[in-house]
Amino acid sequence: MKKLFVKTYGCQMNAYDSAKMADLLAPLGYAATDAPDGADMVILNTCHIRERAAEKVYSELGRLKNLKAEKALSGGRMLLAVAGCVAQAEGAEIVARQPAVDLVVGPQSYHRLPEMIARAARDQGHALETDFPALEKFDSLPAPTASGVSAFLTVQEGCDKFCTFCVVPYTRGSEQSRPPEAILREAQQLAAKGAREIVLLGQNVNAYSAEGWSLAKLCGALADIEGIDRIRYTTSHPRDMADDLIAAHADNPKLMPYLHLPVQSGSDAVLEAMNRQHTADDYRRLVARVRKARPDIALTSDFITGFPGESDADFEATLQLVRDIGYATAFSFKYSKRPGTPASTLRKQVPEDVKAARLDALQKLLLQQQHAFDDSQIGRTVAVLFEKPARDNGQLMGRTPYLQPVHVHADAALIGQVGQVRIQRRTANSLHGVVV
Ligand code: 5AD
Ligand code: SF4
Repeated sequence: MKKLFVKTYGCQMNAYDSAKMADLLAPLGYAATDAPDGADMVILNTCHIRERAAEKVYSELGRLKNLKAEKALSGGRMLLAVAGCVAQAEGAEIVARQPAVDLVVGPQSYHRLPEMIARAARDQGHALETDFPALEKFDSLPAPTASGVSAFLTVQEGCDKFCTFCVVPYTRGSEQSRPPEAILREAQQLAAKGAREIVLLGQNVNAYSAEGWSLAKLCGALADIEGIDRIRYTTSHPRDMADDLIAAHADNPKLMPYLHLPVQSGSDAVLEAMNRQHTADDYRRLVARVRKARPDIALTSDFITGFPGESDADFEATLQLVRDIGYATAFSFKYSKRPGTPASTLRKQVPEDVKAARLDALQKLLLQQQHAFDDSQIGRTVAVLFEKPARDNGQLMGRTPYLQPVHVHADAALIGQVGQVRIQRRTANSLHGVVV
């Protein structure tokens, strides 16, 4: 067996891609290992979305170059691959800056890894694939080999929205949806391997559209698959929140009451400069419609503080939006300049300390809301899907319909089942309860 080490950065789609790459390389005799030392192949599956991503990759490559040299001294060869969005964005620049790299493979090309490995091994040269062959990769990937109780399934990739801060439309290409048959087949395979929850992934997952199928219709068909108890999807754009998807939150009992709906800012001026194509009130109205369909839905979002030109009043509008909506949890980031994006050339960049102070204030408010939401579960009995043993002996980790982690003393036989749990208390990041 050859040893394969994959290091994953960034989003859930990268985690899904990393698992797929490992599946793809298994028939070539590669088995996953959890450290790069002595590995026969190392893949850095990179993320380009925020902060000095490329720099981090180059410094990691510097360290790996030494391991590669050690391996060569003992007569072996370590293949070094850069995959993911930094590979897409930097391309040939990567091998120019770090010649120890053997392969550069973009997110749409990793199904060609076996061929690239063969080429790199044959001529000892570099192999580079960063085309956009429009989801061809999904037809070329093996069936899932293993899966947990909760499994990711990519249904859509790419983005046509062109928010002015974001690299995704450049690194992942335009919006593409996989055919429904292929998705349902993969879901059946996952269910047969023990998955009880399917998390549909896409950069703009609710823009899913193929052969007359919408995301809502897809969720309907998934709900009919034997063994699938829960369906989730992420990430959604407010503009693509179609009526049938909102209705599905009322009508499809397997569709979980949880929605990640990034808004980024609460200021119309900033939203306009970000090219988000909606106002803060559009978002408020949309949330009201979603809550009418599913009153208990847990809402989450992404926020950026210190977008170029953001004033104190703009930031206050973001805080006000957060107070108005009330989030279950949320992700927030300081704006970071991404090369090649329109916002990176705007002149009114916000000073670092202002960005940081705003982020701090926003995160305090969001954490208060998260704790309030978690506390509102105390004393209630909720359906928990048990996923795996928890770190504490004799405990299991499961999740509520609202995605909150719950720790419970329970028999491992419950893994993969939904049990009723009375929530007793909250710790910093999880709930604790008893099976009833
Ligand atoms: N700076 C800061 N945050 C960003 N995001 C995307 N691009 C940037 C950037 N240049 C955040 C957005 C997005 C999330 C995935 O990452 O909030 O929704
Ligand atoms: Fe990036 Fe905007 Fe597309 Fe999301 S919707 S991936 S933030 S361009």
